Order: sequence, then structure tokens, then C-alpha cells
Amino acid sequence: MAHLLTACCSVNPSPTTKTYLKLPSRCSSIGRTSVTFQSCRPLYRSSISVRKKSIKPYQINATAASIGQDVENRLQPGSHQILDNGNSSKQKRVMVIGGDGYCGWATALHLSNKNYEVAIVDNLVRRLFDHQLGLDSLTPISSIHNRVRCWKSLTGKTIQLHIGDICDFEFLTEAFKSFEPDAVVHFGEQRSAPYSMIDRSRAIFTQHNNVIGTLNVLFAIKEFSEECHLVKLGTMGEYGTPNIDIEEGYITITHNGRTDTLPYPKQASSFYHLSKVHDSNNIAFTCKAWGIRATDLNQGVVYGVKTDETEMHEELCNRFDYDGVFGTALNRFCVQAAVGHPLTVYGKGGQTRGYLDIRDTVQCVELAIANPAKRGEFRVFNQFTEQFSVNDLARLVTKAGKKLGLDVETISVPNPRVEAEEHYYNAKHTKLIELGLKPHLLSDSLLDSLLNFAIEYKDRVDVKQIMPSVSWKKIGVKPLTVPA
Ligand SMILES: NC(=O)c1ccc[n+]([C@@H]2O[C@H](COP(=O)([O-])OP(=O)(O)OC[C@H]3O[C@@H](n4cnc5c(N)ncnc54)[C@H](O)[C@@H]3O)[C@@H](O)[C@H]2O)c1
Repeated sequence: MAHLLTACCSVNPSPTTKTYLKLPSRCSSIGRTSVTFQSCRPLYRSSISVRKKSIKPYQINATAASIGQDVENRLQPGSHQILDNGNSSKQKRVMVIGGDGYCGWATALHLSNKNYEVAIVDNLVRRLFDHQLGLDSLTPISSIHNRVRCWKSLTGKTIQLHIGDICDFEFLTEAFKSFEPDAVVHFGEQRSAPYSMIDRSRAIFTQHNNVIGTLNVLFAIKEFSEECHLVKLGTMGEYGTPNIDIEEGYITITHNGRTDTLPYPKQASSFYHLSKVHDSNNIAFTCKAWGIRATDLNQGVVYGVKTDETEMHEELCNRFDYDGVFGTALNRFCVQAAVGHPLTVYGKGGQTRGYLDIRDTVQCVELAIANPAKRGEFRVFNQFTEQFSVNDLARLVTKAGKKLGLDVETISVPNPRVEAEEHYYNAKHTKLIELGLKPHLLSDSLLDSLLNFAIEYKDRVDVKQIMPSVSWKKIGVKPLTVPA
């Protein structure tokens, strides 16, 4: 726990401009805590040219800048004809909230490549968490501004940038009014269960950020874009590990002779997962009450880093988290194998979850957008392609490592989480397949390429970050700090 930085700090992500993180600060409307950037605009104004007319609070329209590379447009513009409600060829406008993050960046590029008009909304808080905790992505990642400039230079396509916090309703209002989205894909949340279990302030930040952010999006849709389709990233972790099959969102129950189809019971196992359950309830309620159209994508654990678009140029490279707070199991095992660190199985290793390749995340989101929910419909898809136990993953990585000449060892470490370590798990996942998902399964060759990728970047690995440092049982009220 000594690795954790104080919750109330200032960081300086740019060498020239100070940005302060206030945690906690008061949110007048609900009296809870919130994280805010105090000086977003000055930070970026110097590096981005903004046309006078389009200046709006917190909005940045990134412009193309020649990056002097000998690159060509490798993808065919217009290869994917977008039909708006099936009867016109207007480009669909998709707002990607959290578009600077792991899933969001890959998705924003994919949708732009498929000729959707894309705007990224992000407050860059994920990058700040790394600064706070002394973590870093395995892969070097460019600033979001360089990323979108590079994309424009390669493809001629503009991705708008709106830098700001969706918990700030004024900011979100401006983003909605100026972009007028047909669909909003909402990835913009604090997404780490361990982060939410560090201390009281991070638990409160996570629930505030996620629940209020999503509520604001729902209010913005109701107020400014009532036809807009919300595609919200939930997690398979909302269901927990019940001793019966997990259905896609709903279950039909007969009780005392009467039958009803009800929301599938949720058993969240961290303050993060609980925030997602609350989101799902708020979305379901507003679909009923206001006629919002929404798709809740209960996503499994995502692995991999490359997509067709991020491979086009090194500046487009996605982040790859392997640390004990943000790293996901398979990504972390590959990095551990690459650097000769034993694979760390938590407890007995029978914990079974759904997994998917990042290339399938982008496909699933595109399918959800192209086939929107009806007005008032709260649609739930389980978004994963295969299920594995942690022990299965360790065995697969060991086998693939051997083929590459790596000596891979597996150890069991005390489980920092409170969870079943041996359990029944059978989750349905047919609805996205029915819509046309073509899964990339975790074949030997994919695992080889993931391991080779980890080997390529192994000099950037900080082995101190690998072991779990957050205990579900030891969470307390005292803000935890990281010594220098
Ligand atoms: N990565 C996975 O394996 C996984 C699995 C299941 C579900 N999910 C869900 O998918 C979504 C995206 O996950 P990810 O791995 O890409 O996370 P990420 O942390 O890499 O990206 C989230 C992005 O949202 C931004 N953000 C957070 N709060 C914001 C706010 N208030 N306003 C504006 N921007 C904000 C962050 O800066 C970041 O860029 C999350 O909702 C997560 O719960 C992810």
C-alpha cells in the first residue's frame, strides 16, 4: 500500500503548465466530491490551433498538422456506407466519451475509419491516475492532440476533441449542442476495481465520477438529443458469479405460480462494480420514464492492443496496462512472462470470467450503433467471446511462452480481493453474434503475437508495479500516499 499517492495533490503533466487535481472538492448540486481540472484550456491552447469562430468553453477542434511522415491512406474511404435510419446516407455522428482511453481510443479510430463523424470527449483523468500512482502504459502513448492530428494526416478524417469532465453539466451541454450526436458511446468512467478500493476518497471519486457522469449524459440526451442512442459500457462483473447461468440482462422467473421477466440479479464485488450497477439502474429507469434508447454492453475483460487503425502509425499506438491497479489479467500475464516474473495467480485461480480481444470491442460497439435500440428500450448485451479461469490463462501463457523459449513459472499469491476462487460460471453471449460479430478467439497465434508484443516493449516494464497493492479488506478512510 506504500505505493499509493496522496489523494489531494497537484501534478504537472506538462513541463510548462500546471494542472491541479482537486480531490475531494465540493459539488454544490449533490454535496458529494468530484475531481476537476482547474486549468484545462490554457494547457492545450498553445499546442492546438483553434479557429476563432469555433471557440467554446472547453472545446477544442483539433486541426490537421503535417507530421512529415511518408504515410499513405491505406484504408478505403466510403468502404462502409452509413445509413441514417435506413433511408439517407448522412454520416452518423458518434460522440465517444472516454475516447482517450484503452477501449475508447481504438473505438474512436475504428468508427472514424468506417466513416462515422466522431467526436472524442475526455478529461484525460486516466493519464492523471498514472501520474498520481507512478504508473505507466507498457506502450508509449502520444498526447490525444498528436493522436488526432496524426489520424487526420493519415486518413484526411477529422476527429473532434472536447476536453472536459462529463460531471460538469455545462461542459457536457456545450459538447452536445455543438456536436449534436446521433449516438453516444460512453466509456468515460474510472474503470479499475482496485483503484476504487484504495481508500475512501477513491471509492467516493469512483462512484461520483461514474454515476453522476452517466446521469449527466442521460439528462443531456433528454434535453438536447432525444433521438440519440446511448451505448454504455457496463461490465460482466456486475453479475458476480451466481451458481446459475448468467443471461443477457434479463431472466424469466416463476415465483409462487406467477411468471415475470426481470432484470438479472446483480452482485457487484467492488465500489467500481457497484457504480456500474447503479448506472444500469439509472439508464433502465430513464428508458422507461423518458423514452431514452439505450444499449448496456456488459463487457468482459479486454486483452490485446493492436487494431487495424492503431497499427497504421506509432503515434496511434494504444495504451497497454499491466500494473496491479489497472492491468487486466491476460495483458499482465504476458508482460510477466516477457520479463521473467512469475505469473501471479490470485488465490486458487478458479476465478472464471468472460474475455474478448480489443478488435472485438470495436466491432461490438459498431454493431450496437448500426442497430440502435428502439425508443424506450433498455437493451443488454453480454460483450465477450470466450470464458477462461485465471488458471486457464496461466496455462495458455506458459505454453505459448515455452514455444518462444521463455521459462514461465506460475505462483499463487494471497488474493487481495474478496471473491469466490472456485465457482460455476456459464454466461450467455449470443446477441452480438446474432448481430454479426465475428470473434477473434484467443488462438495460439494470437497469444504468440501478444507475447511477442510484450517482449518488444519489455525494457519499459517497471516490475515494482506488477504485484497487487490494494486489499479489499484493508481499505480505510485514510488517504494513501506514495513516497517518492
Ligand atoms: N478494459 C477492460 O477490460 C474493460 C472491461 C469491462 C468494461 N470496461 C468498461 O469500458 C470502459 C472503458 O474502459 P477502458 O479500459 O478503456 O478505461 P480507460 O480508463 O482506459 O478509459 C476511460 C477514459 O475515460 C476518461 N474519463 C473518465 N472519467 C471521465 C469524466 N468524468 N469525464 C470525461 N472523461 C472521463 C478517462 O480519462 C479515460 O481516457 C469503462 O467504462 C469500463 O468500465 C472495460
